[in-house]
Amino acid sequence: MSVPPESTASVLPQAAPPEAVAFPPKELKKECEDILSRYPTRMAACLPVLLLAQQHYGGWISPEVEAGVASYLEVSDSHIRGLLTFYAMYNTKPAGRHEVWVCRTLTCWLRGAEKLRQTALDTAGVATCGTESDDGKFLIKNMECLGLCEVAPAVFIDGQPHVNVTPEKLTELMEACD
Ligand code: FES
Repeated sequence: MSVPPESTASVLPQAAPPEAVAFPPKELKKECEDILSRYPTRMAACLPVLLLAQQHYGGWISPEVEAGVASYLEVSDSHIRGLLTFYAMYNTKPAGRHEVWVCRTLTCWLRGAEKLRQTALDTAGVATCGTESDDGKFLIKNMECLGLCEVAPAVFIDGQPHVNVTPEKLTELMEACD
């Protein structure tokens, strides 16, 4: 008599789901309510609520925060995960105190963006984009067009645009970050 195979689900290790934080914390309650009042559905408010959460929780969204936001907005964890991994402005691992976004799209690339990215990596002391520097100071990110093509190459540092950037200027700007 043949033995039925065990189901795949009983064989594969199952990761425990993250324990959701209570979201929103009291400091964000009013702002979250204001955001929700401007959107037709809770789901439609995902992006601004996630940005708010990211700012509040040290510049990144942990699985626990992700689960808390999903519960608050009454959407699935996978919906939130999809947004976090699609949009480059969100971080799903610890980010440095300063984020440097280097545009890599055509106009900036033609105007020297490769050198800028290397300068940013060297100044931060990291080998690749998307990795927090050892001192926790910087996170360098490759970004698509930042909307400043006419004054390329463009870089954002902590949300502030810088245009016609040279490697020397970028080094200076990053060294001025505390
Ligand atoms: S291509 Fe870099 S800002 Fe548009």
